[in-house]
Amino acid sequence: MKRKKIIFVFGTRPEAIKMAPIINIFKKDNSFDVITCSTGQHKEMLDQVIDFFNIHIDYDLALMTENQSISGMSSKILESVSGVLDLEKPDYMFVHGDTTTTAFASFAAFYNKIDLCHIEAGLRTNKKYSPFPEEINRNITSKLSDWHLCPTIESKKNLIKENIDESHICITGNSVIDSLLFGIEKLDTYKNHAIESLKNIIDSEKKIILVTGHRRENFGIGLENICNALIKISKRNDVQIIYPVHLNPNVKSVVNKLLLDKKNIYLIDPLDYPSFIWIMNKSHIILTDSGGIQEEAPSLGVPVLVMRNKTERPEGIAAKTSILVGTNIEKIVTTTTKLLDDQSFYSDIKNKKNPYGDGKASEKILNFFKEKIHE
Ligand code: UD1
Ligand code: UDP
Repeated sequence: MKRKKIIFVFGTRPEAIKMAPIINIFKKDNSFDVITCSTGQHKEMLDQVIDFFNIHIDYDLALMTENQSISGMSSKILESVSGVLDLEKPDYMFVHGDTTTTAFASFAAFYNKIDLCHIEAGLRTNKKYSPFPEEINRNITSKLSDWHLCPTIESKKNLIKENIDESHICITGNSVIDSLLFGIEKLDTYKNHAIESLKNIIDSEKKIILVTGHRRENFGIGLENICNALIKISKRNDVQIIYPVHLNPNVKSVVNKLLLDKKNIYLIDPLDYPSFIWIMNKSHIILTDSGGIQEEAPSLGVPVLVMRNKTERPEGIAAKTSILVGTNIEKIVTTTTKLLDDQSFYSDIKNKKNPYGDGKASEKILNFFKEKIHE
């Protein structure tokens, strides 16, 4: 049978982290010619991932600009990815998740009549602006996709409700766990400068609270509340708050203004993936509005407080690996305090099983895909 040509398109840090093991497993299979295309929606934050996972990029569209608008990025992605498809004429395109890259690369596939496979399909809040613009990006991508790789039963159910043909859906777990397990193992022999710098910051007498935040719907009052909650928590002398600040200027400006030089709070640049999983593994609690971190942390036994009003990842809340606290100052502070002071409450969360996967998602995606294209 003729080898099929597959293009993997991604643009941001989490897409690259979650696609890396899938790209690598498809590359090893001799049924496929694999091409990779980065839109470059992210720059430094993406480069860090590419290096660690050793991904070769065939097309780097390098589209990122400082403080880019969603619409500007969308039109550039549509036009540039279409150009690549025109040149390469692949049989299939793979996209991941819910970013601007995901949605507008998917449109490019549609206009070029290329079969589309969506990884991490079926997440929903059913609230148009929560998260913004990701909820609608996911809906659009599902509509445009031919094959849907769902991380959980919940996400599959969401697609069935939208009348997507069940035989085109596969539950695979989330490939973020494949990446995490690979990364943690590689850490044993991996040394880098950022990990050494972190070792210099860490005070072994204190509990680490790791923080990240970048959601657009939290810009403004939500992010200010998060910072004010951190100031309250930092008054305790038994904690150390480590906050790798996302490079989005709308995040950096507020966080720097409110938290710079505060006692027990360490603002640092985004960490490369190995350093980030290293510090996650050392953390006592994680406070975040990130999607990927909600999925990873349970595999390391670290409780997560989700600083969003709605989450499209209800599995973690149901499994009690994470707690939804929104951006309410009191709720963030009281829940963090309870986790710090109530040992049995903490242990109960720490010891729960991760509902997001077993590290075999890439293999399941490959097997499903091969079975379907041979039908
Ligand atoms: C994007 C995704 C979001 C995802 C997040 C992961 C959209 C609309 N949003 O949000 O779903 O959760 O990535 O982190 O697709 N920047 C840099 N260097 C980088 C990356 C970003 O300087 O390596 C700065 C730039 O000024 C850029 C800005 O951040 O213009 C915003 O980047 P963008 O990709 O539009 O949005 P994110 O908030 O990163
Ligand atoms: N991450 C990282 N460095 C950091 C913060 C996060 O490598 O400083 C990783 C993290 O391990 C996870 C992914 O980035 O795999 C999450 O990305 P992000 O929070 O930016 O996006 P989301 O998952 O919310 O779309």
